[in-house]
Parts: sequence; C-alpha cells; structure tokens
Amino acid sequence: MSEIATLTLPDGKRISLPTVVGTEDEHAVDISRLRSETGYITLDSGYQNTGACQSAITFIDGEKGILRYRGYPIEDLAKHCSFIEVAQLLIWGELPSAEQRAHFSEILAEHSTLHEDFRRHFSGFPVHAHPMSIMSAMINALQTYDLPGMVIDDEDQFERVSGALISKVRTIAAAAYKSSIGEPITYPRYNLKYVENFLHMMFSRPFRDYVVTAEASAALNLFLILHADHEQNCSTSTVRMVASGGANVYASTAAGVCALWGPLHGGANQAVMEMLTYLRTSGMSVQDYLAKVKDRTAGIRLMGFGHRVYRNFDPRAQILKGACDNLLNSLHISDARLDIARELEAAALSDDYFISRKLYPNVDFYSGIILTALGIPVEMFTVLFAIGRMPGWIAHWKEVTADPAGRIYRPRQIYTGPARREWMNRFQREKGTTDSRGFTVPDDLLAKPMAQ
Ligand code: CMC
Repeated sequence: MSEIATLTLPDGKRISLPTVVGTEDEHAVDISRLRSETGYITLDSGYQNTGACQSAITFIDGEKGILRYRGYPIEDLAKHCSFIEVAQLLIWGELPSAEQRAHFSEILAEHSTLHEDFRRHFSGFPVHAHPMSIMSAMINALQTYDLPGMVIDDEDQFERVSGALISKVRTIAAAAYKSSIGEPITYPRYNLKYVENFLHMMFSRPFRDYVVTAEASAALNLFLILHADHEQNCSTSTVRMVASGGANVYASTAAGVCALWGPLHGGANQAVMEMLTYLRTSGMSVQDYLAKVKDRTAGIRLMGFGHRVYRNFDPRAQILKGACDNLLNSLHISDARLDIARELEAAALSDDYFISRKLYPNVDFYSGIILTALGIPVEMFTVLFAIGRMPGWIAHWKEVTADPAGRIYRPRQIYTGPARREWMNRFQREKGTTDSRGFTVPDDLLAKPMAQ
C-alpha cells in the first residue's frame, strides 16, 4: 500500500494524497484529485518537479549519472549492441532474438526506399532550406504514402510502420543533404546494414562509391545508440503530447523533430560546433569566452554544457569523449576544435560559476567533433540526432496510445492577463475624435458601444 502525503492549503482545507514509488525508488505525490477536491492546481514552470506520466522505457538518475534503456545500462548497450537492436529493445521492451532481428532487418530493407512521387518533394525546397525543416515536413508527408488510412490496426502493421519510419528517416536525411548540395539522391542498397547504408546514401556519388570504414560505422552506431531515448525530454514530451490527442505516429514524430530543433535541445550539437569554430577562427581565448558567458549581458551560454537532469556528469558525454579520441586517432585526423573543446571543458570544470550551478559537459559537447570527423556537415547534426531519437519517440508513442487509462494531455494554467473589460468600439479605443483617415468621429458614435 502506498504512503499518504497530506497537504494543508491556505483556506485550511486538508487533502490526503497517495504517493507513487517507481522501480528505482523514485517518489511522487499523486495529485490527480487535487483540483476536483480543493480547486487548487500545481504550478511548476518548466516542469522541473512534474512527473507527466509513468513510463517503463528509460531510467535516468541525474545525480549518479545513470542512464538505462529498459533496465540495461547505456555503457553495456553502447559496447555490445547495434543501433537496430537498441531500437527493438526500446520499442518492444526486450533485446531481439536472432529471428526477430532478421525479421526487422528485412522490414528495414524493404522500406528503405522512398516512393518515386515522394522523391519529387525534395525539389520543392529552396537549396538553402535547413534539413530539419525538410525532415519534419517529409516525415509528416510520409504518412500519406505509408499509412493512407491513418489507423494502425494490429501489431504487425505497427511493426511495419515502425520499421518504415526508422528506415526512411535515414533515407530522407541523406536525400535532404544531397538536394542541398545539388547532387542526385542516392538509392539505398539492400546488402548494407543500417548505418553503412546511411553513410552510403550520404556520400556515394553517381561516379564514385563511398567506402564505409569499420571505424566510421562503429562511431555512428555509437552516436545513434546514445541518442536513442532520454525519457521525458522536450521532443519526447512533445511526441507524447501529440500522441495523446490521437494523432498518428508520423504526425507525432514530425512534431518531435520540430521540438528537437531548438538550440537548448537537439540543436545544441550544431551550436557547439559553431562555438568551437568561432573560437578557432577568431583566436579568442577560452578564458575570454568563458568570461563572456559568465557576464550574462552577452546572452550566450556555454553550449554543450548543463542539463536539466544530470547534475554530476552525463554518461553519454563520457562515452562520446572516449570515442572521439579513438576515432580521430584511428582516422589520423587532427582537429584543433577537439583541443579547444578539451581546454574549454577543463577551464569550465574548475570555474566556480559552473561548479556551483552543477554544469557539466552534456552529450552534445563532443558529438559534433565525431560527426565532423565522419564528414557530416554541421547543418546535418541535429538531423542525425533525430535519426537516433526516432526509436525512442516511437516507443513513447506506443506507450501513450496503448495505455487503456490514457487521457489527452492538457495542462492547466494560472491566468495573469487583464480581468474582465468592457468592450469599446474602435473610435472609443482610439481615444480621439478623428479616425485614421482624418474623418471626425460623431460624438454619438463615441457615446455608446457600436453594434458588431
Ligand atoms: N552556460 C552558462 N550558464 C548556464 C548554462 C550554460 N550552458 N546552462 C545553465 N546555465 C546557468 C543558467 O544561466 C542558470 O543560472 P542562474 O541560476 O544564475 O540563473 C543556471 O545555470 C540553471 O540553468 P537553467 O537554464 O535554469 O537550467 P535548465 O535545467 O532550465 O536548462 C539546459 C538546461 C540544457 C537548457 C541549459 O543547461 C543550457 O541551456 N545548456 C546549453 C544548451 C545545451 O547544451 N543543450 C543540450 C542539452 S543535452 C541534449 C538534449 O538532451 O537536449
């Protein structure tokens, strides 16, 4: 039986509220009866203390730097799994058997191409269009080709649609890139695995095949696994919100892409690289840059630092930092921005501004260096994040839509606008007797409100 919390309100009313305990001993007060029984709601700007749902997908302990998908530590998954196995784990709750893996790979291969009519949409965008714009529009448009009836009837169809989305999001990303550089779109190949196929579609050209190295595919596989889910972050919460209204999985995940784009969320990986490039080209010292960040008037943040949940370290950043060193060494690449990143990290971690606010490098701090080493252009960084996050979004869409007790997400608010006002006609509102065309307004018009 759950323990009871008691809340005493300013009007003297007391309410007993049940508490909920999660698998990992996280505690919550269930306030679902609060408004109906007291008239009060809770106010929690930015949802810092609000549990919006119960979820069985991902566990994070921000104090201890723990991240687990369906119970498995991220470090183990990153070491032993392919991105597609992790996708199946997130969506269906278990790591796949050999048979399940082969079956899902077949679905991915079958659905890797885009309908020929669909490919024409790419030429409708201006060449400078940001690939995140193209991505969100195209995922939404995919539904009209893949799921014209808009309803998923059974588990097999859900599996097919999930596979199609995971497979095609990568084809769309590569096609958006090819269109932006004026090259023909490259078709996927049946014999290539997920990550290799993406790199092939990104970099093969009609007159020259791109040779995918084991190092490049391992680094991208790792990047995608580390981005595959992160419980109730901004984009996933958006997907759940849209799904709760009954929208299909294409519309819901397209909304997730839009939410991901912002520089405080998925767009941070692009912003980090731009920051490091600025430091390299301008020659500004790390200390001067940090001084600008701390002097809040410049309005800049140290991108790739800080996290709403992680208050000690982000385990994804630690894994990526190691991978970054290995990749650059194995590819014999030297990038001055990696040295600047290391210098920035060391300086920030010994600076009281960052220490006192518990700000540490997050997943985006080193990911841009890896993507750059793989030849991915900076505008594509957030798109790569979206490819990685797709299985997580689908898993959350499934969790919301499969919940028999599910209700539409609809937060309340505390209204702070004007109290009730008397309606006045336009002339009264303009407070003069002459209207904008220079006509004098008759007094009787001002005297009483005009009929609509
Ligand atoms: N640089 C400088 N100051 C910072 C930073 C930063 N990167 N992040 C937070 N702060 C300060 C902030 O100004 C505030 O200071 P004060 O208490 O004096 O007003 C304090 O630290 C707390 O910040 P907050 O904005 O209340 O924290 P939050 O939990 O709302 O924001 C965050 C989290 C990730 C949006 C924020 O840390 C940030 O803007 N970081 C830079 C952008 C970034 O790297 N985003 C990627 C996040 S990881 C990928 C993902 O999952 O999306």
